[in-house]
Amino acid sequence: MKIFLILVLCGTLPLAAVAADDTPQIDPALELIQVLGCKGCHIINGEGGSLATDLTQVGSRLTVTQIKTLLTADASTRTEGFMPSYDSLPKQDLQRISEYLYNLR
Ligand code: HEC
Repeated sequence: MKIFLILVLCGTLPLAAVAADDTPQIDPALELIQVLGCKGCHIINGEGGSLATDLTQVGSRLTVTQIKTLLTADASTRTEGFMPSYDSLPKQDLQRISEYLYNLR
């Protein structure tokens, strides 16, 4: 329990520090995208790797729900490519990432 609390505190303190600062905050969805390494394979807004599709226009091909479904698909059932499954992410994070990508177009 103690360890859990420490983890929670470590996780929230830097965020609080950022919020108190005047500098503009990074979109939480973009932060997730950075941390999860999506740009290792995908170009997003002109930045990233070209191993997979450029995601900047993905919102003109897929809906938010379709993007979300794709992110959580079992990696072994993917018909093309080698994208990992992000099944274990909190639903809220999946929603954020999917909305962010959808709205890029
Ligand atoms: C190891 C490489 C890799 C990583 C990391 C990766 N992807 Fe992918 N992704 C792929 C491949 C391969 C495909 C399927 C083939 C393609 O679209 O090029 C794909 C497909 C997609 C698609 C569907 C694109 C379309 O037009 O149909 C979306 C949306 C997507 N990825 C989002 C993400 C997000 C968000 C992340 C980070 C959470 C991520 N990917 C991380 C390799 C990756």
